[in-house]
Amino acid sequence: MSPAPDGRTDPRFARALLQREDAFLRVDEEDDAVFYGPARIVSHLDETALNTVERLAAGLITEDDPKVLDLMASVDSHLPSRREFSSVTGLGMNEEELEANPTLTDWVVHDLNKDPVLPFADDTFDVVTNVVSVEYLTRPFEVFKEVGRVLKPGGLCLVVFSTRWFPPKVVRAWEDAREEERLGIVEEFLRQSGSFESSGYFISMGLPRPEDDRYFSLGTPSDPVFAVFAEKQGGAGGRKQRMVLRDPAQLDTDWGAVQLRKKKVGETMECPHCQQVLSKWEVPDDPCIDWPNDFLYLCFNDFCPFVVRGWRFMWNQAILGTSYRYLFNPIKGTSTTVPIRGLTDLRPGIVEEDPAGRFRSAIERGLVDFSSMPKVKDYGPKLGPPKG
Ligand SMILES: C[S@@+](CC[C@H](N)C(=O)[O-])C[C@H]1O[C@@H](n2cnc3c(N)ncnc32)[C@H](O)[C@@H]1O
Repeated sequence: MSPAPDGRTDPRFARALLQREDAFLRVDEEDDAVFYGPARIVSHLDETALNTVERLAAGLITEDDPKVLDLMASVDSHLPSRREFSSVTGLGMNEEELEANPTLTDWVVHDLNKDPVLPFADDTFDVVTNVVSVEYLTRPFEVFKEVGRVLKPGGLCLVVFSTRWFPPKVVRAWEDAREEERLGIVEEFLRQSGSFESSGYFISMGLPRPEDDRYFSLGTPSDPVFAVFAEKQGGAGGRKQRMVLRDPAQLDTDWGAVQLRKKKVGETMECPHCQQVLSKWEVPDDPCIDWPNDFLYLCFNDFCPFVVRGWRFMWNQAILGTSYRYLFNPIKGTSTTVPIRGLTDLRPGIVEEDPAGRFRSAIERGLVDFSSMPKVKDYGPKLGPPKG
């Protein structure tokens, strides 16, 4: 079946995966206490992705001084640092990690795979978050029923995941699912609990990885961020609208201006999308390449909206891990694209690099506007329309 226009597949795929007999088996079936015994004082996503998670949470959590449960918590709860919380309770497997988490006001060590019953009273929390952990649950349907029980009516459940996990402990249905089907899996957990209003989702992919990240040299963009969120049924009317962060594939573009700049590339030698100076790139010396050019001109700006959007655009066509760069042919005067599977691809062919700092100064001059990205905007699926 072909993917839906937004890159998602029919929810029946997720349901079929979850119904398999081996859906919740793992490579390591030993007691989770053994695997999670040693403390891991680490970040599970790169800084760019973590920043996205925090901004997403900032927009979705609209309660004043909410009581939060961070389910499957470790050293970082990813809550917006400038907000006040009346309490943040952590539930996880490792005491040392929970103790090291500066956001938690209280915490409990509790194995959800042994006992999915949450040790909290009904209608206790305004918000339940679960970050990069849902793939380890072997009894998720029971756990999400419990999430529904401990949330207050109208409270928010936010589940965030990415494409990294501990391989021995991930359940088979998750590992076998395609990225877009995992959204459907989480939606199914929420739906089958019978406690939630219809869910919304968020995807962010294609932003460059920070230069000091340990995986930067691989050339892969920042860890993608996927999220599913829903409100518990029965919320009171008149409460604040939750906002969904704008994803990088939705960057504003003035297409008229791009068209005008494209016509002038031969004079400016600037990328029409980001206005960075194009780099001179040597065409490979290969008898099978018939291009008359010795050189082409490419945009090597990893923040270029064309590249950032490209990862998502290709993902929507079910082509994962691929984007493209802008290419100008100076002999023909034509613009086209060249595919990439990583941000380091094609770089060895650069013979004349963009003058350092030119792109940053373009931002300073207001030529490129990324300001919409960090802002929480009224965009995308909304939750909690005022009732009554
Ligand atoms: C990849 S870490 C993510 C931690 C944290 N949520 C974060 O965003 O950094 C996975 C977490 O899931 C928790 N976890 C795994 N299995 C669990 C279980 N059976 N019951 C409760 N928590 C579990 C572990 O304590 C571990 O900290």
